[in-house]
Amino acid sequence: MTTKQRVLLLGATGETGRSILQGLLEDGESFEVEVLVRPSSTTKPAVKALAERGVNIRVADITGPIEDLVKVLSGIDVLISVIDAGSQLAQIQLATAAKEAGVKRFIPCAFITVAPPGGVMALRDSKEQVYQHIRKLYLPHTIIDVGFWYQISFPTVPSGRADYTAIIKPNAAIHGDGKTPTILIDREDIGRFVARIVKDNRTLNKSVIAYGDVLSENEVFGTMERLSGEKIERQYVSRAIRCDFRTQRFQISTDDIMSARAETAAAAKADPTNTFAGMMAWLQDYNYSKYVRGDNTLAHATYLGYLDARELYPDFQPKGFEHFVRDVLDGKGEKRQAISLR
Ligand SMILES: NC(=O)c1ccc[n+]([C@@H]2O[C@H](COP(=O)([O-])OP(=O)(O)OC[C@H]3O[C@@H](n4cnc5c(N)ncnc54)[C@H](OP(=O)(O)O)[C@@H]3O)[C@@H](O)[C@H]2O)c1
Repeated sequence: MTTKQRVLLLGATGETGRSILQGLLEDGESFEVEVLVRPSSTTKPAVKALAERGVNIRVADITGPIEDLVKVLSGIDVLISVIDAGSQLAQIQLATAAKEAGVKRFIPCAFITVAPPGGVMALRDSKEQVYQHIRKLYLPHTIIDVGFWYQISFPTVPSGRADYTAIIKPNAAIHGDGKTPTILIDREDIGRFVARIVKDNRTLNKSVIAYGDVLSENEVFGTMERLSGEKIERQYVSRAIRCDFRTQRFQISTDDIMSARAETAAAAKADPTNTFAGMMAWLQDYNYSKYVRGDNTLAHATYLGYLDARELYPDFQPKGFEHFVRDVLDGKGEKRQAISLR
């Protein structure tokens, strides 16, 4: 009989965390799963629901005294953090405590697109500060990135039948020529990948990219049109071709994407307490990285040293984008409060 790994999950009530909890619970032969909740959230219905499912809850303030945190982490084999995007640096003390508590593997909160550190995406850079701290501690770890969720990557259709699950409605924005490929995933598959990755010695101290499909925006729009039978009026966020008459060389201009990114970054910097401005700035960074630089591809993941989860686990067939779109059009997506542009 093999011993189960004791896994502690921070963020189990969040969007990504729910998927990871599900993936771990589905593999009950491998894991004893517990969740870490901050004191102010213990009375939330979502936390109570976890307790009702029989999940053990450990309570800790990760910004509180480190000795308390070390105690809470005692006996944990794998610590997984899926903290919200704005709280990345709170993981620095968590990593220090994990090292002191003898945690065998820390999964810091990565779970974004492939991009190099150093000024491309502010969010990626805040995660990188945590990774650097982990490496200085020589804390065993695995970084898991996943591309962009299908759930926030599809355009709406004119009839409005996809609006109930859209993040912005209507949304027909397409960037540049729409040809740049980008790595995508069904958020619900993240947990199934994580459950495989955290018990695999090949992934220790490595980065892993997990994904369902790699598609350009033209392919994403084409799938939505083909399956819905509706024509989507594309709104091009320009990447016009400009000519430098002095050198007589043609160049791709990235004006719209770049100016939107500069504007939102300035607004977020001017008022760091404005979480909406911060979120918009991350979104523009994603657009810049995915569609202007074209970072979020498998070739770049390989260059940056990621292992490919699809090659590591050929037995697991993640949901394809086409299947996801069928579900959306059949009304099987989750209901969301969209930002309405109507
Ligand atoms: N690849 C993509 O397309 C994509 C999309 C969205 C997000 N992401 C990434 O995924 C990560 C998770 O995002 P998400 O949207 O899933 O998060 P989320 O839904 O906002 O959930 C965050 C979770 O962290 C918990 N949490 C926050 N602060 C905590 C603290 N101090 N102590 C303990 N728990 C704490 C929250 O619990 P309570 O607030 O209830 O305490 C909640 O369970 C982010 O870092 C983001 O970069 C990626």
